[in-house]
Amino acid sequence: MSNQELIRRRDRVMGPAYRLFYDEPVHLVRGKGVWLVDDEGRKYLDCYNNVASVGHCHPRVVEALKRQASTLNTHTRYLHENVVEYAERLTGTLPGDLSVCMPVCTGTEANELAFRIARAVTGNRGTIVTGSAYHGNSYVINELSTMEYPASERPRYLEVVEAPCIYRGRYRAGETQIGAAYAALVGEGIDRLAGRQYQPALFICDNIFSSNGVLTPPPEYLQESYRRVRAAGGLAVADEVQSGLCRLGDHMWGFMDSAVVPDIVTMGKPMGDGHPLAAVVTTPGIAEKFARKYDYFNTFGGNPVSAAVGLAVLDVIEEEQILQNVKSVGDYLGSGLRTLAQQHEVIGDVRGKGLFWGVELVRNPDTREPADTEARKAAEHLRHNGILLGVSGPGKNVIKIRPPLVFSRENADQLLEGLKLALTDHR
Ligand SMILES: Cc1ncc(COP(=O)(O)O)c(C=O)c1O
Repeated sequence: MSNQELIRRRDRVMGPAYRLFYDEPVHLVRGKGVWLVDDEGRKYLDCYNNVASVGHCHPRVVEALKRQASTLNTHTRYLHENVVEYAERLTGTLPGDLSVCMPVCTGTEANELAFRIARAVTGNRGTIVTGSAYHGNSYVINELSTMEYPASERPRYLEVVEAPCIYRGRYRAGETQIGAAYAALVGEGIDRLAGRQYQPALFICDNIFSSNGVLTPPPEYLQESYRRVRAAGGLAVADEVQSGLCRLGDHMWGFMDSAVVPDIVTMGKPMGDGHPLAAVVTTPGIAEKFARKYDYFNTFGGNPVSAAVGLAVLDVIEEEQILQNVKSVGDYLGSGLRTLAQQHEVIGDVRGKGLFWGVELVRNPDTREPADTEARKAAEHLRHNGILLGVSGPGKNVIKIRPPLVFSRENADQLLEGLKLALTDHR
């Protein structure tokens, strides 16, 4: 059967809300490490899929899944060693008092639970998020996902503050105290909420600002934002769905780069190397206060198979020294991207850390007009050249690079060469 026929069947049975990537969608049939293979046996270098964190179909993870799936799978209302061990191991990677783990299945569910906890524990309802944010797909979390709908539809409890983009935002690189200046906007958001009779329950942000086209504000941004929201009675929530689990190269969790300790951490995507596994981690005090009002049950969250998979991922991270790999290959890739920027005027900015990079394309370096068509064409060019990556950002002009964490220098060289070709050919 042709791919055209499969696309027709898919459209018919799944409806138009489920989109595909690329003008000529890729039909994948196999994966291993950083490689994906299509239905015609063509290999692609995966520079996009952070979910396959320790590599597609890692044998250790697959074996753990198979073993537990052929023994028992139930849920967290029965005692099981795996889920307790996983929660202990996971919380052991977090600083401060972040020692209570509530397992769920997706990043959306983690953020939804964090939202409920913050409201229940603070007694407040106001919520502060950044512009062009993405936090998930449920009704409430879609309201927090400001990239998804027009500003005119924002609920009254929500205050949206400008994300700290030091390339095209109101405070830019070279100015002093930019982190604190952007955090002051959080303070203004708190004041506007108060004007509408809302006190903040939470401030939440994605610590690599993936949907904003990858932002890396100075540490003062989170430090000062957390201080302000706490002073107003709210909780600081770190959405680590994108930035967590070694992705940024210096620490296991992205917020650690800013030397802060959030009240609640939400995590998901990379934890199960492709298996749906996510969690909320918080302090005993917050967990206890929430439990006074509510209990929580999630049918699939933290089941013995998921926990076995999560444990295997943590084992691989330790044994294969994943964090060290991310740091060294990430630095290498970052410097390659910066060199490329010097050679191609269309690259306006290169931002990122570890193995998460954004390459912002502009039509004119002075006006910084977003080069959205050029970014899309580059991604299409790369796809035909056997390299998969994404395009993101409010202007749809940022090439997003976020490969499995086992990416090597050789892989980085192939990507850099492919990008060079794509940016040369598009002119
Ligand atoms: C920052 C962030 N938070 C939360 C989510 C939602 O995760 P999920 O798709 O697993 O529900 C995403 C998904 O892309 C995300 O990027």
